[in-house]
Order: sequence, then structure tokens, then C-alpha cells
Amino acid sequence: MSTVETKGRNVGGTECSWCKAIRGGTGIAVLSLLITKPIDISRFQTSLHKLQNSHPILRSKLHTSSSSTDTTFSFLTSHTPFIKIESHNINVTSNILAKNKNDTVSISPLQQIMEHELNRNTWQDRTGIDTDMFVASIYAMPDEKTWVVVMRLHVAACDRTTAVSLLRELLVLMKDEEKEENVVVVEDVVPLAIEDLVPGRKGKKHIWARGLDVLSYSVNSFRFTNLKFNDTKNARFSQVVRMQLNQTDTKRVLDGCKQSRIKLCGAITAAGLMAAHSNKTNSSKKYGIITLTDCRSTLDPPLSNHNFGFYHAAILNNHVIKGGESLWELAKRTYGAFANSKNNDKHFTDMADMNFLMSKAIENPGLTSSLRTSIMSVFEDTVVDDDGMMQQEVGVEDYMGCASVHGLGPSMGIFDTIRDGRLDCVCVYPAPLHAREQMQELINKMKAILIEGGKTYEEY
Ligand SMILES: *[C@@H]1O[C@H](CO)[C@@H](O)[C@H](O)[C@H]1NC(C)=O
Ligand SMILES: *[C@@H]1O[C@H](CO)[C@@H](O)[C@H](O)[C@H]1NC(C)=O
Ligand SMILES: *[C@@H]1O[C@H](CO)[C@@H](O)[C@H](O)[C@H]1NC(C)=O
Ligand SMILES: *[C@@H]1O[C@H](CO)[C@@H](O)[C@H](O)[C@H]1NC(C)=O
Ligand SMILES: *[C@@H]1O[C@H](CO)[C@@H](O)[C@H](O)[C@H]1NC(C)=O
Ligand SMILES: *[C@@H]1O[C@H](CO)[C@@H](O)[C@H](O)[C@H]1NC(C)=O
Repeated sequence: MSTVETKGRNVGGTECSWCKAIRGGTGIAVLSLLITKPIDISRFQTSLHKLQNSHPILRSKLHTSSSSTDTTFSFLTSHTPFIKIESHNINVTSNILAKNKNDTVSISPLQQIMEHELNRNTWQDRTGIDTDMFVASIYAMPDEKTWVVVMRLHVAACDRTTAVSLLRELLVLMKDEEKEENVVVVEDVVPLAIEDLVPGRKGKKHIWARGLDVLSYSVNSFRFTNLKFNDTKNARFSQVVRMQLNQTDTKRVLDGCKQSRIKLCGAITAAGLMAAHSNKTNSSKKYGIITLTDCRSTLDPPLSNHNFGFYHAAILNNHVIKGGESLWELAKRTYGAFANSKNNDKHFTDMADMNFLMSKAIENPGLTSSLRTSIMSVFEDTVVDDDGMMQQEVGVEDYMGCASVHGLGPSMGIFDTIRDGRLDCVCVYPAPLHAREQMQELINKMKAILIEGGKTYEEY
């Protein structure tokens, strides 16, 4: 059959915000894997086709249509898989790696390729052209023994839960590739948008309350980053700093969280705030923190991690830091503020307001050029990855995953994973607004604060 039947649906409010934001570069999700075994490209492609078969959003294209007053977006879902892997030879890779040659902070080839892909925006302004939500590339590395495999997705199709499931399912498919394949269409249509799955009573709010919230968000939220900007003029892109703790240090921090009855995001938030504030002796400052929470299990009907798409909601809390706080005291305070907002369903009730503010920020680039919505975004739940054995089996030596944040959003987006007992954070920030040296220094401080806190929690 050569004709490809398509189905579709219009995007929801949150997805629409991502469709608009991505034009400025925010919302490109990248999962990159360092592979140490030769890859059979056609088999890899078969695995990706199976993934597309199981997940309609992965075999969807984004259709954009513009009128004089508005732009609308919709997903067009093909009946059959169509992904084609883009293959880059060593020369191409070498040229990409050469760009960072003179940097004072050295970064791994895997990270360099990931940064390159984070800034490849195939969704920029493509009115009239339908663009794939999911693309894959392979880079041959100059050592001639390794490859970097990259999957790049539009965030409207891929929140962090999706990225984690995608990696897991892909590994299983690659491991079982010897087995007889039988390609079955498991899912036929893209699941509904998050707004259409919010439990009935939670999405509504009294008009006056909504007005107040919009006001407080817009007055408050655009100011509270408080990190120094290096370059506000030149075009922006995303860069990454990686923070890794060993097993001993990780266990101590996790024990501290358990003792304090908080999730790890509380400790990460507190360490980030303390690091950012460490230069400001004597003054007290207010900082905005965005916590992203996966809503799948609380939707009506609930979704599973197998339902790919964007089903996170954001909660914004502001915190005043005076200096002299202890890690666990601050972690309890920040986590408590978040947990309280979540108990009050703020992530559901404020969803429309957050989308409204996001669109205002996108429409007013002048505002976002020097003013960021918050200093940091974190995820409520850490990804725990104990698939190390399976990864080794298919030759995955290392991997990194995150989404671009420049153009809008926080000074730093933190994507944390606990991988075989070690904390591994990918921290994304907008460059050249922030310089790599500055962010590396900030992350070093944050790491030191976490490690120190891990040693002192018993005394607290
Ligand atoms: C790579 O570059 C070298 C030197 O510039 C050239 O000789 C070679 O043909 C190139 N290889 C490929 C595959 O393009
Ligand atoms: C790196 O530095 C050398 C010598 O200063 C210069 O010639 C080259 O253009 C620089 N490369 C990049 C990518 O900036
Ligand atoms: C973990 O890192 C700390 C430094 O933060 C170091 O003192 C310790 O020896 C390391 N432990 C292991 C098991 O590598
Ligand atoms: C901090 O405050 C103290 C007392 O108010 C003052 O003496 C000191 O100079 C201040 N330090 C800085 C760095 O502003
Ligand atoms: C800061 O920005 C300037 C341009 O405004 C640039 O020349 C400089 O390299 C940047 N500093 C760092 C450390 O990136
Ligand atoms: C903190 O202050 C030092 C010295 O004034 C400066 O070099 C550094 O960039 C500052 N760090 C941050 C994260 O702003």
C-alpha cells in the first residue's frame, strides 16, 4: 500500500504552548547514547519502526496552518511507521567536535554531540510543511570504535516519562532483535491532550482567584532568576553541564531526604538556591523555582507510562533566601511549599494560567531576553535507572537526556537520574546569556553543598 492513511487531532493548550515555544528553540528533547558495539543500521531502524507502531505520537507529524489572526497546530498520525535514520560520517562529527576545541571547560564527545542536536531546530517556522515529531541520527566517532545515537523529539510529544520509557523499550527491542519480528499496530490514535483528562472538578477555579494568580505570576515570575547574565545580545542556544555524584555520596543524600521526609527534588532545589545565593552575602533575595510533576496517574482516565506525550504540569513557587540556611532546613521548606501547592491541585487549576503566561513570554521576546521566569526547574520525581546490565548488553556505555531551555524558561533545567546508585544530573542553561564557566562553577558549588549536606543530616 503506497497511500498512507492518516488520522489526527488538534493540539491541546499545553501542547500548543510547546509548539509556539519551540520556534524560539525551547522544547527540543534529546536522548543521546554512546554505543561501543557496531550498529546494524537496518536492524536499528526496524526497532524504531516497532516503537512507532506502538506509539502513535511517534509516527505523527506536526501540521501548522496560519491565518492572518492565528496559527493552529495539529498532529497528523500516519498508519504506518516512516522514520529514516540520518547517518553522519566521521568528517561531519569531527567538524562538530572541533567547535569546542578552544573551550576552557572540556566536555565529552557524547555531550558535544548532544549539545549540537539540542540546537538543531527542525520545527522553527514551518508553516505549510508537516514536520516529524521524532527523528533519529547516528554519528560515527573519530576513534572509529564508537557511535553516538541520537533521538530528537518535539517536547509536545515527549515529556521526561516518555523519554525514559522510550529508552527502555528501545533497549528491549534492540536486545531481542534476533527474535522473529511481527510488527503489530498496538495503538491507533494519539491519546487525548492533558487538558481533556484533568479530573472534572480540579480544572475549574473562581474567576477572581484565577485573576489574582495570573497577576501574581506575571508580577513575580519574570524577575526571580537573580543569576548574573553574561551576554544578553547574541542569539541564544542551549548548553549543558553534567553533575555526577558517586554511590557513597548519593546514598548519603538520599538518606538525608528519607530522614527529612522529602523527595530528592527538595535537596536539589535547596542546593541550587544556596549555590546561586552564595555570592550575595548580607542581602536577601527572592528566587522562582518550577517543579514539574507527571500527572499521568491522577488523570481521568489515568494514563500509564506507556502513553507517550506531554503529561507534566508545572508548579511555580517563590522562595526568599537570606543566606546562612542549612541544606536540610531549606530543602524541607522548599519541598513543603511545593507539596502544599500540589495538594491544593495548583498544577491543575493553574494550567491555563501557566500556558497563558508562557504565550505572553513568547510574544514579548524583549521581556524574556533579560528576564527569566525562574532560576531553576526540577522534576518532582527522580528517574531511577537500574538497567545498566541490559544497556551493556546492547553496547550502550553511557547516555544523556534533556530538553532545550533557551528562548524562554528557567536559567537552568535539571534532569536528574539515579543510575545504578549514582546521581547523574544533566543541567541545561541558555548560552551565551550564561557562560559555561559560570554555570560550571555554580554546579560545582551545588555538588559540594549536596555532598556536605549528606555528611551532616544526622546532626540536623
Ligand atoms: C573526509 O575528509 C577527508 C579529508 O578532508 C577526505 O579525504 C575524505 O574523503 C572525507 N571522507 C568522507 C567520507 O567524506
Ligand atoms: C581556536 O584557537 C585558534 C588559535 O588561537 C584559532 O586559530 C581558532 O580559530 C580557534 N578555533 C575556534 C573554533 O574558535
Ligand atoms: C566519593 O566521592 C567522595 C568525594 O566527594 C570521595 O571522598 C570518596 O572517596 C568517593 N567514594 C568512592 C567510593 O569513590
Ligand atoms: C554585611 O553586613 C555587615 C553588617 O551590616 C557589614 O559590616 C558588612 O560590610 C556587609 N558585608 C558585605 C559584603 O556587604
Ligand atoms: C561573555 O560575553 C561576551 C560577549 O558579550 C563574550 O565575548 C565572552 O566570551 C563571554 N564570556 C564567557 C566566559 O563566555
Ligand atoms: C561569584 O563571584 C565571583 C567573584 O566575584 C565570580 O567570579 C563568580 O562568577 C560568581 N559566581 C556566580 C555563580 O555568579
